Amino acid sequence: MLSQKLLDALNDQLNAEYYSSYLYLAMSAHCEAESFRGMAHWLREQSKEEMEHAMKFYDFILSRGARVQLKELPTPPNHWASPLAVFEATLAHERHITERIHKLLDLAVAEHDHPGQVFLHWFVNEQVEEEAAAQLIVDRMKMVGDSPGGLLILDRELGAR
Ligand code: FEO
Repeated sequence: MLSQKLLDALNDQLNAEYYSSYLYLAMSAHCEAESFRGMAHWLREQSKEEMEHAMKFYDFILSRGARVQLKELPTPPNHWASPLAVFEATLAHERHITERIHKLLDLAVAEHDHPGQVFLHWFVNEQVEEEAAAQLIVDRMKMVGDSPGGLLILDRELGAR
């Protein structure tokens, strides 16, 4: 059976994944409004992926015979200073999520919850990929700098996701 402590932490992470989805949707809307449609597409797909992450927590909690507790979501920003600022914020957010996942896994270990540990391993691997993907975009944006041509090429590439 899930301990109350681990259940609370899993429900908090369910909320954090929904916030990730909300944040990337806000970023997508911003990019669309700024006519970076490829970036908007990439972020919209990312928002959907975060919703899937949230549902993994939802299903796991229910499969353990426990109660899902949905909570309020914070209001995300609706403007960023530049495309680079958008993806730097994405990378910072993913690093924050990685820390949360690692703490959750530490808790599952401390609570001797073996199914919880196996479940969370998927997220440990996923976070390596998520950080690498965001880092690559940040690196390439820094390469192109303020060059409109470079930004448009990058925008097209991100639109192919
Ligand atoms: Fe659900 Fe991007 O981590």
